[in-house]
Amino acid sequence: MTATFKALRVHQVEKSFQARLEQIQISDLTPGEVVIRVAYSCLNYKDALAVSGKGRIMRAMPRVAGIDLSGVVESSADPQYRLGDKVLVTGCNIGELLDGGLAEFARVPAAAVVPLPTGLSLSEAMALGTAGFTAALALRRMLENHQAPEHGPIAITGPTGGVGSVAISLFKRAGFQVAAITGKITPESEKYLRLLGADEIVDRNSLDLGSKPMETARWGGAVDNLGGDTLTYLTRTVKPWGNIGSVGLAQGHTLNTTVMPFILRGVSLLGIHSVEMPRAWRLDIWKHLASDWKPAQLKDIGNRTISLEEVPAVCAELVGGRALGRTIVRIGGEL
Ligand SMILES: NC(=O)c1ccc[n+]([C@@H]2O[C@H](COP(=O)([O-])OP(=O)(O)OC[C@H]3O[C@@H](n4cnc5c(N)ncnc54)[C@H](OP(=O)(O)O)[C@@H]3O)[C@@H](O)[C@H]2O)c1
Repeated sequence: MTATFKALRVHQVEKSFQARLEQIQISDLTPGEVVIRVAYSCLNYKDALAVSGKGRIMRAMPRVAGIDLSGVVESSADPQYRLGDKVLVTGCNIGELLDGGLAEFARVPAAAVVPLPTGLSLSEAMALGTAGFTAALALRRMLENHQAPEHGPIAITGPTGGVGSVAISLFKRAGFQVAAITGKITPESEKYLRLLGADEIVDRNSLDLGSKPMETARWGGAVDNLGGDTLTYLTRTVKPWGNIGSVGLAQGHTLNTTVMPFILRGVSLLGIHSVEMPRAWRLDIWKHLASDWKPAQLKDIGNRTISLEEVPAVCAELVGGRALGRTIVRIGGEL
C-alpha cells in the first residue's frame, strides 16, 4: 500500500463546503476494522449535494465523500474478512459521518462490509449502489405490505435518476405495470424509460396535481423520489390499499396532506431508509440484486463511467436533475 493516496474530501470553509482532491494517509481516515482498496464508487444524489456544496450532507468535516464503494480487502482486524476478499459498502454512514468511497483506499467498520454476492462484479455493484439498493428496499417493503400487480400500475417519480431507473426495472420484473412520471420529455429520455420497461410515460410538468384531499384514484402504488407537491399528489391518487414508498426529496422535504387517503382508502406511506437497517435485511437484499432481482438492463442503467477527477463537474449536473441513469466512478478498476 502506498503511503499516501488520492481522496476527494469535503471541507468546511467558513459557511460553505468545498470538495478537494488531495493526498491523504490511512491514519487520516475515520476508524474501522477493514481497509479496502477501492475499485469503484458511484454518484448518488446525496454525493452530488455533498461534493457541490449544495447540501450539508457531511456530519463532520473534513470527510472523504462517497456513500458507496466496491473493492478488495487490503487488511482486516476482523477475522470475517481476509486480504483479497471482494466486498461492497453502501450507506452505513460512509460519506456522511464516516470517510467514504471516493478515494483510492477506505477504512470502514466491519459491520458495514457486505461480501460481494455471487452474480455481481465490482462495477455492477456500483451500477446499483445505494440507488439500486434503495429501489429494492422499496420493492421489498411494498411486497411485504401486500402490493400486488392487480392493484394497478406503480407510479415512479424521478424515473430517469438512479433510484427511479432501478425501480422501473425491478417492479416490471416483479410483474407490475409501471408509469414513469418524469420532468424530462425528450426522445432520449423516452427511449431510455421504455428500454427499462416503462409502460406509460407521464410529463410531470403537465400533471394536474389536484387540490382535494383525495382525487380520482389512478395508481396501484408509487415509489416517490421527489417529496413536496409530487408526494402530496400521490397521496391523493393512489388506489385503496396501495403503498407509497417515500424515498427522496429532490423536489422538497415538505408533505402537505390530510389523513383522508389513509383512513378512507387504506393507503400506506412507507418510509424507505437505506443508510441504517438490520444487517440481515441488507445481506438479503444484495443477494436478490445479484440474482432474481438483478436488472436485465444494468449496463444501460450504469451507462456512464468517470474518473475521480471528473466527479465535481458531474455532481453539479446531478444536482440540477440532469441524471439519465447511474454514474460509476472508476478508481482502481476490476482488481
Ligand atoms: N431514503 C433513502 O434511503 C434514499 C436513498 C437513495 C436516494 N434517496 C433520495 O432519493 C432521491 C433520488 O436519488 P437518486 O440517487 O436517484 O438521484 P438522481 O440519480 O440524481 O435522480 C434524481 C431524479 O429526480 C428528478 N429530479 C431531480 N431534481 C429535481 C427537482 N429539483 N425537481 C424535480 N425533480 C427532480 C430527476 O428525474 P426526472 O427528470 O425523470 O423527473 C432526476 O433524474 C434523492 O432525493 C435522494 O436523496 C433516498
